[in-house]
Amino acid sequence: MQYQFADRVARAPKSFLEELFRVSSDPSIISFAGGLPSAALIDTAGIARAAREVMEEDPQVALQYTTTDGYLPLREYIADRYRHRLGITATAEEIQIVNGSQQCLDLFAKLFLNKGDHVGMERPGYLGAIEAFSLYEPVIDTVPLEEDGPDLEVFGRMVRNNRPKFFYGIPNSQNPSGRTYSQEKRKAIAEILAGTETVFYEDDAFGELFFDTQPRLPVKRYLPDQAVISGSFSKTVAPGMRIGWMFAPAEVLQQFNVVKQAADLHSNFLCQKILHRYLTTSDPDAHIKKIVAVYNRKCQLMCDLFDDLMPALSHTNPEGGMFLMATLPEGLSSRKVFDEGVKNKVAVLPGLPFYVDGGGTDTIRLNFSAASEDQIADGMHRLAQVVATLCQGQ
Ligand SMILES: Cc1ncc(COP(=O)(O)O)c(C=O)c1O
Repeated sequence: MQYQFADRVARAPKSFLEELFRVSSDPSIISFAGGLPSAALIDTAGIARAAREVMEEDPQVALQYTTTDGYLPLREYIADRYRHRLGITATAEEIQIVNGSQQCLDLFAKLFLNKGDHVGMERPGYLGAIEAFSLYEPVIDTVPLEEDGPDLEVFGRMVRNNRPKFFYGIPNSQNPSGRTYSQEKRKAIAEILAGTETVFYEDDAFGELFFDTQPRLPVKRYLPDQAVISGSFSKTVAPGMRIGWMFAPAEVLQQFNVVKQAADLHSNFLCQKILHRYLTTSDPDAHIKKIVAVYNRKCQLMCDLFDDLMPALSHTNPEGGMFLMATLPEGLSSRKVFDEGVKNKVAVLPGLPFYVDGGGTDTIRLNFSAASEDQIADGMHRLAQVVATLCQGQ
């Protein structure tokens, strides 16, 4: 049988997932290649208690169909958190619940992109966004991501010349680089976009995972009607619940809601109710503080080991999040480091899939949230050995 798949499927980049799966299913390999939050930091007892309470009190409602926009008290909780945490105006009417913030990428692209439309993103950019957008066959324009955010000259030129429908960025602890936009660049981006028809799509998967308490305001603060933010409970509560949200002007959400309804009617209502019960009967801020303290220690450990054991590599110094990126010495290929690493029982992710227009041959992404501190120490020693051997062979 020759299956007649749609052309758009062929446009999607070949996924690295198969190789990653092979790596993560071998327990003898220490993997920094994936992107999981620490399993030890999921409050399983607290979530189990919330689940029991919901099932005892309200099982018929919790197990029934519900509206597409999501559980109103949960949407109010999210809007309230924006007001208190960031001081930006937000109402429940501007919040739509989704199946993890990954679903926002698909639905937003479906809502905005015709085949051949331009969309902007960072270089390197989040692999999951490249995959989601590619299925709608846009032209993806990339803007180099510098230490403090996108290259503004390239960004301005791209917006003026190509008029992208939206620019997708991760201002807080970007995946894959771990970089954070400066407040000045956030303002400058808003100034460049003001008066154009390009929407700023902020993916804020990591905004609550900063290692310090310094406030960082979203681009949406300066451009309320022209920016949207996707958020997620995956990194602060539990990714398996698959609950995230889109924070967007009500006019955008009305259309987004139509697309969401066609896709799946609504997100898992039982999980929404359990999550809301959990958030309002536990101390989520104390829990996030605990996560941040652990990730801060792990990140520092990984950076110190890079400096001590592999001084020939440069690396980013994340202010939060779950990832950092390292640049290999000239001539060393990221693919080779991956292949040799797996033979030596340590896995890192080559930068290749994060560059839509080619590149990443000299960069690797490392996740520091999933492995224990002992595993980080062991894995970094193994990686140093791999790098030393490959450098000698050059
Ligand atoms: C930048 C970024 N956006 C979105 C997601 C998707 O997360 P979720 O769908 O669990 O909210 C991830 C997952 O790691 C991510 O790194």
